Amino acid sequence: MDDAHGDDAPATDGPSSADGDDPYAPATAALDRGGFDADPVAVAARLDGDDPLSGFADRFSVSDDVLYMDGNSLGPASDAALASLDRVVDEWRELLIGGWTDADPPWFEVGERIGAALAPLVGAAPDEVVVGNSITVNVHTLVGTFLDELRAGNGPDRAGHAAADGTWASGGDPDVDPAVLVNDLDFPSDHYAIRAQLRSRGIDPDEKLRIVESRDGRTIDPRDVEAALEAHDDVGIVFMPTALYRSGQLFDVARITEAAHDAGAYAGFDAAHSVGAVPHAFADADVDFAVWCTYKYLNAGPGAIGALFVAERHHGLTPALAGWWGHEKATQFEMNMTYTPADSAGAWQIGTPPLLAAAPLEGSIETLREAGIDRIRAKSLALTDFLIASVDERLPEVSVGTPRDRDARGGHVALEHPEAERLSEALTDRGVVVDFRPPNVVRVCPAAPYTAFADVLAVVDRIEALLESGDHLAYAVGEGGVT
Ligand SMILES: Cc1ncc(COP(=O)(O)O)c(C=O)c1O
Repeated sequence: MDDAHGDDAPATDGPSSADGDDPYAPATAALDRGGFDADPVAVAARLDGDDPLSGFADRFSVSDDVLYMDGNSLGPASDAALASLDRVVDEWRELLIGGWTDADPPWFEVGERIGAALAPLVGAAPDEVVVGNSITVNVHTLVGTFLDELRAGNGPDRAGHAAADGTWASGGDPDVDPAVLVNDLDFPSDHYAIRAQLRSRGIDPDEKLRIVESRDGRTIDPRDVEAALEAHDDVGIVFMPTALYRSGQLFDVARITEAAHDAGAYAGFDAAHSVGAVPHAFADADVDFAVWCTYKYLNAGPGAIGALFVAERHHGLTPALAGWWGHEKATQFEMNMTYTPADSAGAWQIGTPPLLAAAPLEGSIETLREAGIDRIRAKSLALTDFLIASVDERLPEVSVGTPRDRDARGGHVALEHPEAERLSEALTDRGVVVDFRPPNVVRVCPAAPYTAFADVLAVVDRIEALLESGDHLAYAVGEGGVT
């Protein structure tokens, strides 16, 4: 994890206080010292003036009358993403089937090519990342693959554990069936998929989906993950988020991976809520596998293609959900009935990649690379510092459900209020696009590439105005739908 802000931020946050090295120091200082000691409007103006990323907002399609704070659900279109989409549409029009080989670059290796472009964002080698499928499908195939490995006796070293020697049962024996460790704040789809994978191997998910419980309903204490591994020696896979979808808590990937490996378990991650906002070092941390989407902080568009990481040491395994697009590329079109997996993360592709759902990603990665993931993270932390400091100062009836510790904070802030659903509706109606997550959270995501500090201030102004007027109380709740 990158924390661009030290504890030695300058002691003032007034309009002239920007630290020589850290353009975001006034935001950091406001949170650390429990408030602004200059007019926040002037502080925001100074921060925006000094922001090295301020020019990037013009490249994103967010209309001037909208404060878009929902990029953790769906990132906006960018010039570069639309250009790479247009290019592939033109190729389709002009080249037809020839696009698979004659487009520049050819479509045939789109998964591997865009995967390699994404790899630096997660600290991986180019062939350890591929784009394909969706998160949920990738959870199915990767958890399934590693369950199969465990049951073939190929788990990580389990010295001192009874099931270490390849004696995992073939299914249905609770004494030796492998368990998967998750937590009760996970995104539900991950649990659905893992339960299905356990079930399909004859393993009872009620028994073997082991769930770490949150102490506060907002966060998972890493010590509880470690304690669960101490308490249960049947855990074969630890599958955790890099960041929780509701509170935005950022996990310590290296710590959880080490704990998993010490217990003889594989470590897998759902990185949907961090890739593109937080730098990762999956290879250095020894992560076994990870999945994420590209429609949130990677801004590749609604329903855009998923992405996954598989550590090089696992290349060559047969994926649980094998398909022809994961076949060794050189012989894929020989159409053999026997499946030879590609010797790369590419093996976990399944069917034909959705070119039009992958094309925008190419352009959007370029924009993010130009901005630089470390600079994005530094600004993101400053924006959430600024937001939390403003909420603390001006919205006493709102609680912040996101960790204040920067190392444990992802890219969005969870604002808790008993009327969160009505607030979310009323804000969105007034041009502040946020979302509601039950029971009481309004998620506010000031995404670094296109959000200004003045925007954050405007969001707080609108929430304050609503709470003062009570206008949000006129909204109906509980109607469901996509939020
Ligand atoms: C953390 C997390 N995991 C999984 C999913 C499901 O992703 P998909 O619909 O792409 O399978 C989402 C969707 O938003 C998510 O936020």
